[in-house]
Amino acid sequence: MNNREVFSVLGIFDSAQSLMRAIPEVKSGAAAKLEAYTPYPVHGLDEALGLRKSPIAGMVLVMAVIGSIAALGLEFWTSGVDYPQVTAGKPYFSWEAFVPIMFELTVLFAAFTAGLGMLLLLNRLPFFRHPMLAARSMPLITRDKFALAVEAGGKTIDVEEISALLRDSGAASVEVVESPPVHGLASPRFFFRVLIAIAIACCVAGYATYWAMKLFPKAIPMVHMLDQPRLGPQQGNTFFTDGSGMRMPVEGTVSRISIPYTVDEQEDPSAMGNPLPRTAPVLGRGRQLFNDYCSVCHGILGNGETTLTAAYEAKPTNLLSKNIAALTDGSMYHVIMKGKNSMPSYSADLSQDERWAVLHYVRVLQRALDAKDEDVSSAQKE
Ligand code: HEC
Repeated sequence: MNNREVFSVLGIFDSAQSLMRAIPEVKSGAAAKLEAYTPYPVHGLDEALGLRKSPIAGMVLVMAVIGSIAALGLEFWTSGVDYPQVTAGKPYFSWEAFVPIMFELTVLFAAFTAGLGMLLLLNRLPFFRHPMLAARSMPLITRDKFALAVEAGGKTIDVEEISALLRDSGAASVEVVESPPVHGLASPRFFFRVLIAIAIACCVAGYATYWAMKLFPKAIPMVHMLDQPRLGPQQGNTFFTDGSGMRMPVEGTVSRISIPYTVDEQEDPSAMGNPLPRTAPVLGRGRQLFNDYCSVCHGILGNGETTLTAAYEAKPTNLLSKNIAALTDGSMYHVIMKGKNSMPSYSADLSQDERWAVLHYVRVLQRALDAKDEDVSSAQKE
């Protein structure tokens, strides 16, 4: 024997039956790890070799549970503790809203555990040069012979004794498989070093780019939007007779999205009437918009009772009160346009028709407080 390490001693058998018969004998005779190589799957081989069930299922279960708990904890902390914010009038800890992220992290943790756990941990990959690939008997084993290997597993084993044991238990021939010479470039350690080097290089490159752009703001990465023939504000231009680059809209132009609100100039905004018909679609739209924009403060019923009250002790106006019910549509429209004290303006969020639709719905809420029989029958007619 030369001084290379022994990887395993192979006993070559002529049939699956003789291999199966030999296993108990070799198992009791040699206190080393056994492995079998066969050209096709042999029933009962796993049990005979005493292979345990793969622990991957358990690992995946544990990591999946950790994944969903981690997601729940993260969401609870971010939206309930670190930056508490009322979203759509729900309590801070609304687990129902957290379910999608919990599902994602559960799947993520489980998938990575299954993939990486199997490849790196259980299969010990990357394993670039399996010693068996260099065994002389390998071509036979992939054809019609059966091999039982007694693996050294890094320790020294008595090759003579094990060869004799394999022969005694029916092996037709015996081969000693040596560990391959260690190749620097093909070793897993080198592989991991390259991975770590790439990871470090990526971090350094990202960080360097970040700081370069921060320190030298002129070095904008993408300039094709800026770099185009154009006139800056206040820049002169000889194309027009007045020599100015900035142009006014053609006289009489009306913007398509913001119709000018000229109530300020009117004597009395309260005189404006609601121009929208009170139809079912308009009321439906009004309810949707009220729930989206106004209910956070005024409450879903308009009575000023919201989660805001509990969280910030704020008490926005009760829109059902007598005073507000007595306001004209025009005055309320003015409040939506201009805001009032701590109520912000909603002129940018709602279009003209949307503002009037919301007001129709506010009237419905007010009327529902004291509904009459005729309201039900007239609603059916409408
Ligand atoms: C950010 C919270 C908030 C939102 C959102 C909000 N409001 Fe208000 N609103 C208030 C507060 C606060 C007042 C009381 C203002 C005051 O009188 O000082 C008020 C007052 C009003 C009044 C009474 C004005 C008056 O003359 O007394 C009306 C009508 C009204 N809101 C309608 C609406 C409508 C319609 C919406 C949705 C488009 C809306 N509000 C959205 C906070 C809000």
